[in-house]
Amino acid sequence: MPGIVIVGLQWGDEGKGKISYLLCRDADCVVRFQGGANAGHTVITQGRKLKFNIIPAGSAAGARPCIASGTVVDLDEVFEELEMLRSIGLDPKLMISRSASIVLSMHKKLDSKIEEARGGSAVGTTRRGIGPTYSDKALRTGLRIEDLLNPDDLKEKLEILRRLHGEEPDNFENLRRLGERIAPYVGDVELYVNDVLDYGGKVVFEGAQGTLLDIDHGTYPYVTSSNTIAGAACTGCGVGPTRISQVIGVAKAYTTRVGAGVFPTEIKGELGERLRELGQEYGTTTGRPRRVGWLDIPLMRYAMKISNVDWIALTKLDVLSGLEKIRICVEYEVDGKTLGIAPPSVKLLSRVKPVYEEVDGWRKISEDEWRRIAERGWEALPDEAKAYIELLEDLLEKPIKLISIGAEAGMEVER
Ligand code: IMP
Repeated sequence: MPGIVIVGLQWGDEGKGKISYLLCRDADCVVRFQGGANAGHTVITQGRKLKFNIIPAGSAAGARPCIASGTVVDLDEVFEELEMLRSIGLDPKLMISRSASIVLSMHKKLDSKIEEARGGSAVGTTRRGIGPTYSDKALRTGLRIEDLLNPDDLKEKLEILRRLHGEEPDNFENLRRLGERIAPYVGDVELYVNDVLDYGGKVVFEGAQGTLLDIDHGTYPYVTSSNTIAGAACTGCGVGPTRISQVIGVAKAYTTRVGAGVFPTEIKGELGERLRELGQEYGTTTGRPRRVGWLDIPLMRYAMKISNVDWIALTKLDVLSGLEKIRICVEYEVDGKTLGIAPPSVKLLSRVKPVYEEVDGWRKISEDEWRRIAERGWEALPDEAKAYIELLEDLLEKPIKLISIGAEAGMEVER
């Protein structure tokens, strides 16, 4: 009964979409358990680029998509992504939890308003209404999927929201119609996922964002509004911790971050811009340029510890090719001490000085040659790239079993 959690080990955008797709090729179902349409998971398969914001990307491999109670759902996005799955010939049997929260347009407006009020301390949110929807959920004034299915409940909830926010929330009739459209997909996700595990099926829990964006364990306040670590799969979907048989951490071969906040290994200037262009580091959801930095081992050790990661999938190794030297932050210096693991204190983290080890890069490799490497496997990688991976394994004390060397599914090396 494998319950596999995919978790981002950095600030999101690690390439979890592709990894989820690969792991879902023999899965029964794939679950989104936190976050909302702030995520941007991309899968490139059969010459098509599929961009998912709320439906789990692993569904493109045929696994049944589930959206669990811990999420905040933008229903318009759900319908668009269902269409996208149909356009590639799939018949997705989406199941969405009755208890999932609904993002209203009021929440999106509020997201922007709060960002503007923060002025120079703005978080740089995706403005998808994530924080305000989770706030209403925590206040117990939020709208859930099942409220849409009952017009009287819906009216009452909207009235409470109107009184609370001092403005008219979304139009009742529109929401009632959305309720009618979503009704065929509503189900007991929590019971279904447990049943699949009971019967020996394979479930992939597709985490969104990354560990350092976790509201409790990330770089607060520059975080998202949900828990993004592996444990969130249990609370967000209602499965017991002993159901999780494997936790897979996804990391880029370097680091990126969108939005404000601490970033110890950030590369500024020309090299940063070069890496951004090479890796096409622009947000999937918002198109914003991502900040770019070297791989940060202390941060990854921290992320791996709090999710108890079993093995690592490393993505975008190809982007580093052509660099003469590659730097890896192996520890931090702060207050005259060295730290091998990032401190959970953001205040301390913002004062650390990264200590780098420099290794040889490898020659520029054309896309065709990467394709041949993907066909031939590990041995075909340049020696310096193999040495880079082996050094990371030594530093992180866990195996790197999957190495992605191109955006498309198929462009990877498995070990
Ligand atoms: P929010 O989740 O829209 O509230 O944004 C909070 C912070 O999380 C901002 O810095 C966003 O850029 C970041 N963020 C949210 N979702 C993602 C994601 O999927 N990838 C990377 N960053 C994200």
